[in-house]
Amino acid sequence: MTIKRICALYFSPTGGTEKIARYVTEELAQHLGGEPAYINFTQPENRQREYHFEADDLLVMASPVYAGRLPNKLMPVYASHLFGNNTPAVPLCIFGNRNYDEALRELVLLLEGNGFQIAGAAAFAGRHAFSDKVGTGRPDVHDLEQMRDFAAKLAEKLAKGESLSPLAIDRSEIGPYYIPLKEDGTPAKFLKAKPATDPGRCVHCGLCAQVCPLHSIDAETAEATGLCIKCQACVRRCPKGAKRFEDPDFLSHVAMLEQNYTARAENLILL
Ligand SMILES: Cc1cc2nc3c(=O)[nH]c(=O)nc-3n(C[C@H](O)[C@H](O)[C@H](O)COP(=O)(O)O)c2cc1C
Repeated sequence: MTIKRICALYFSPTGGTEKIARYVTEELAQHLGGEPAYINFTQPENRQREYHFEADDLLVMASPVYAGRLPNKLMPVYASHLFGNNTPAVPLCIFGNRNYDEALRELVLLLEGNGFQIAGAAAFAGRHAFSDKVGTGRPDVHDLEQMRDFAAKLAEKLAKGESLSPLAIDRSEIGPYYIPLKEDGTPAKFLKAKPATDPGRCVHCGLCAQVCPLHSIDAETAEATGLCIKCQACVRRCPKGAKRFEDPDFLSHVAMLEQNYTARAENLILL
């Protein structure tokens, strides 16, 4: 097969997934030629239509890991919007230095089920959206080197022009979501938590409403009125630092991550 078009699609509320998706895709494009196209699935308007790919396209599909799986509100959207026709694909999962758990397998199986052939897949560590102290500095120079090597090997595989043999992974049923823990080791229950707004800092610029991937924030009041997936887009993008999560279970989970998950987690590369 000759690749005529490279497309990268990513969901990336705090930018880590986008950064890695673009790096790997640019590397692939250097080897295979052509200008990649990017689809930012974070923006709700880009999730309004289906995307169909052909056998001479290459899809790089990148998602963050939430609770050890694909984000549960996005997984059905990925499954109902992305369709291949024996299209080679490169699933990428970006995790915050704790673990990717089942997410990469979930993305591989989802894409295979939708008509894609997996050229290679990887889970790369990035900064944890919940804390600057977890996954600090990732991706670092070693990660970037692994990404370049991964892209070079993928390009070599794709340039052979042979049809791709199925990726050697465990194809059993996907396991449950990771249960976030508090500092005392008991489950942290923050499903209903929403970002609080500091009235002394908020200038009502509306940016939080714009960047919320679920359009759950009211642009006038800056309050989260709809479903919150705890992605941290509003917290990290607010220019005044006016947004934060105050839920005690959420804060205890973050403290637990900072205590236990600062050691460098390894990436997973499957070719
Ligand atoms: C709701 C939520 C759940 C997360 N769960 C995990 C997890 O189970 N394991 C992990 O290592 N990182 C986890 N992370 C961290 C993200 O995977 C990581 O920060 C990722 O880079 C975020 O992508 P983004 O920067 O593109 O938004 C979680 C982040 C969020 C917001």
